[in-house]
Amino acid sequence: MYSVLDYGRMAADPVRMDAYARAIARAVKPGSVVLDLGAGTGIFSLLAARAGARRVHAVDPNPAIWLLPEIAAENGLADRISIHPALSYDVELPERADVLVSDMRGVTSLHADNAGAIQDALARLLKPKATIIPASDALFVGLVESTALSERLERAASSFGSYGFVAKVGREMIVNTFYGDASHPLAASDLLSSAGGWANVDYATYDGRPLEGTVDLEITRSGVAHGLALWFEAKLLEGITFTTAPGWCLVYGRAFLPLKDAVRVVVGDRARVAVRAVSRGDRWAWDTELLDAQGATKAHFRQSTFFGTPASPQALLKASTTFRPQRSERGDRALRVLDTMNGERTVAELAELGPSSMSQARRVEEVHDLVARYAK
Ligand SMILES: C[S@@+](CC[C@H](N)C(=O)[O-])C[C@H]1O[C@@H](n2cnc3c(N)ncnc32)[C@H](O)[C@@H]1O
Repeated sequence: MYSVLDYGRMAADPVRMDAYARAIARAVKPGSVVLDLGAGTGIFSLLAARAGARRVHAVDPNPAIWLLPEIAAENGLADRISIHPALSYDVELPERADVLVSDMRGVTSLHADNAGAIQDALARLLKPKATIIPASDALFVGLVESTALSERLERAASSFGSYGFVAKVGREMIVNTFYGDASHPLAASDLLSSAGGWANVDYATYDGRPLEGTVDLEITRSGVAHGLALWFEAKLLEGITFTTAPGWCLVYGRAFLPLKDAVRVVVGDRARVAVRAVSRGDRWAWDTELLDAQGATKAHFRQSTFFGTPASPQALLKASTTFRPQRSERGDRALRVLDTMNGERTVAELAELGPSSMSQARRVEEVHDLVARYAK
């Protein structure tokens, strides 16, 4: 969950903020109704209200949203901003909005609930011809040399072999993991290849399906290939764009997908790269073939976060759609509490429904978990 400091860092990114401020100023007309989806502390809501919106609905389950009424009041905008401290899925608006403004991306556009929440908002909370900010993101990949990122992973991978142990699985996991480059931001000079556009997210229509694309990259600089960089070019509205390409220092950073082994490449070589991701960005696969000028394969790696995520056989089974789940004892306890949660009993009374073999503190904790998720 983001902290207030995190929201401060987002608001302090001048490239991102300047683009959003220009897009909001263009899209919001006097009298507009605006939905700020994933508002955080509400910087976009304030900009929309100042641009003349008749009503701004700021939606975010993060308690940091409670800073917004005070900030809005300090700026004379409180009467036009309504806050909804909830997930957008649980929100209904008194009227549909003319403008959606949102930035729920992470290192890439495929992050948590970004696409799904926007689709839900388009269907339920926005007018049919509403303006959507951002309009789209183009997703790019390039081959990079980064001794710093590579050494960081190598140190961790070789640590499994400390004290004379052999632990190949540790290295296997580390090279099949999706990383951000925050610890060692990638510079433009780290790029070894041309950039390849492997997918496009059009927020008006993107339905959250898995994304995939294959690109041919020209090697433009000789060096040692350590991995792939992923970045996006955002189009907020026509003509209002920004990029997170290597060399740009925006708050998002970039993704770094390591190659299984470092490979020396020279100008004239080529790389064929296939990237695949599920919409929430929690599963990635990358297939990298490096070819010399004659077309002979120098190296070919097939990698996936599937091989980088420790999981028990039981967890894998549960993740399948053909699994037939049976309620656990904890599930039975939750059902009893939810059934009895009718506005009449206190948390302490609901906790009494738990088995006496559990400590009072643990029972209260379980009820509080259920209250946070399902109580109103
Ligand atoms: C990257 S922050 C952006 C904050 C702020 N809008 C900004 O751009 O500075 C994304 C926010 O989206 C919120 N969020 C994620 N899914 C959401 C959903 N379905 N409904 C409402 N908010 C959501 C998160 O809690 C988080 O505060």
